Amino acid sequence: KAKVAILISGKGSNMAALLYASRAADCPYEVVLVASDKPSAPGLDLARGEGVPTFALSSKGMQREEHDAAMEAAVQSSGARYIALAGYMRILSAGLVERWAGRMLNIHPSLLPAYKGLDTHARALAAGDRHGGCSVHLVTAVLDDGEVLAQTPVAILPDDTAVTLAERVLIAEHQLYPRTLADWVKRDMDAN
Ligand code: GAR
Repeated sequence: KAKVAILISGKGSNMAALLYASRAADCPYEVVLVASDKPSAPGLDLARGEGVPTFALSSKGMQREEHDAAMEAAVQSSGARYIALAGYMRILSAGLVERWAGRMLNIHPSLLPAYKGLDTHARALAAGDRHGGCSVHLVTAVLDDGEVLAQTPVAILPDDTAVTLAERVLIAEHQLYPRTLADWVKRDMDAN
């Protein structure tokens, strides 16, 4: 199976979705590392409980390049060929992104190219959109700008708040990310 490292900053529900999907016999990837810039990220406990190696390093007081280098070293020593960003809330340095070009994916809670960056659900609501949604895309040096691999639109309901919409989009994320990552690594492995 293709080895994947997952980077998280928080709850890690997408990481959990990726991990549990990987346990299916026909899944083409396995999770070899969960790494975080937040040592207290709840997702790290879940990963440990599931027997997945973890790495945590706070970015406090570190230069971006220095922190990225330490994260990348942990990923390299895990043997991962792919990186899945799953609620990793730090911008990565250009060098790191370039080294992993085509092998680093991210999930973003909007229908890209709409609403790059933060507060995606509040912005969709304020604009009167009929749909929010989520996108899985390749990571490039420009924030939330790489090729979109797959998306799921999620209907906005009359009483939605940013919180209720986020909850529903998250359900869609948990379906979309494992399937898209599986398709991508299958395609990439066949090509290489
Ligand atoms: C998810 O909604 C993800 O799309 C979003 O953060 C949440 C993480 O939840 N990511 C971004 O906003 C990236 N800029 P999780 O930790 O439960 O997976």
